Amino acid sequence: MLEKINALKAEIAALSASNQEAVEALRLKYLSKKGAVSQLMADFRNVAADQKKAIGIAINELKTLATEKINALKEATEMADDTADDIDLTRTASPVRLGTRHPLSLVRDEIISIFRRLGFAVAQGPEIEDDWHVFSSLNFADDHPARDMQDTFFIQRNPDVLLRTHTSSVQTRVMEHTPPPIRILCPGRVYRNEAISARAHCFFHQVEGLYIDKGVSFADLKQTLLYFAREMFGPETKIRLRPSYFPFTEPSAEMDISCNLCGGKGCGFCKHTGWVEILGCGMVDPNVLEACGIDSKQYNGFALGMGVERIANLKYRVNDLRLFSENDVRFLREFTHAH
Ligand code: DAH
Repeated sequence: MLEKINALKAEIAALSASNQEAVEALRLKYLSKKGAVSQLMADFRNVAADQKKAIGIAINELKTLATEKINALKEATEMADDTADDIDLTRTASPVRLGTRHPLSLVRDEIISIFRRLGFAVAQGPEIEDDWHVFSSLNFADDHPARDMQDTFFIQRNPDVLLRTHTSSVQTRVMEHTPPPIRILCPGRVYRNEAISARAHCFFHQVEGLYIDKGVSFADLKQTLLYFAREMFGPETKIRLRPSYFPFTEPSAEMDISCNLCGGKGCGFCKHTGWVEILGCGMVDPNVLEACGIDSKQYNGFALGMGVERIANLKYRVNDLRLFSENDVRFLREFTHAH
């Protein structure tokens, strides 16, 4: 019997199988109830008493060997089946679609890069603000309509905690802590209590510019604006300044550019005027400088503010503001090649 066991041991050690069915057949042959090992166990009853110990040990060794061998074969064939059948080696390496930059980010970054060439650094401030930074420091009278509930979102009915309605608040934050010269650009999101439509939204984006130094002139402002307009909309672009009013600038102006659709000849887009409005600007009111602790007898400067959505509309003809915040991938994918 010992010979039979040893022969089986050699046979099992040499087993091989190329697939899972073959392994299962081997398991049945050696380890099932009617398999070779069970058979030996049954025969064990007839073994002479003095041989029982040696043969018992040998049968147990055989059983362990068979179990381990068959488990090893099972694992190997499972792995082989996986690699052989489930992996398609002809598949494209990276089927994941790349994302695109949001059009507003593209436009904002372009504005920043143009002003950076003129030495403007980026500054940021909080979106949840107080009355001082958004209104009072910027020369808004106590009864100015922009403070009204209809325009401004207040938080928790507290009139001193509000969502900023413009990025001009960052001017104050920087001037309070930075001695001039100051040359900053403040991009950010702003909020106004407006009904959402194609032309208005309760939040949008602005970029504010501020330059404070000694002897800054309106001509410096005008040249900066002309440079910006030509870099953004092309070297043929013309600008014009119309007198306007903002509490924080004196004098104030609004800037138009020659319509970049018809080149200034007049079309439906520019309402046949040849011009489209793009930003507000002016010389910083001395009251604002003083409110921020800057001596208005020594220093002066200019400020400008523009809507990023407005610039994006002019560049990409997006006529419905809501598209910018709905994140419809069909819209966003249109900007894949705009980078
Ligand atoms: N803060 C103004 C707004 O929200 C935009 C603006 C106009 C900013 C003129 C300026 C400026 O700095 O000089 O409508």
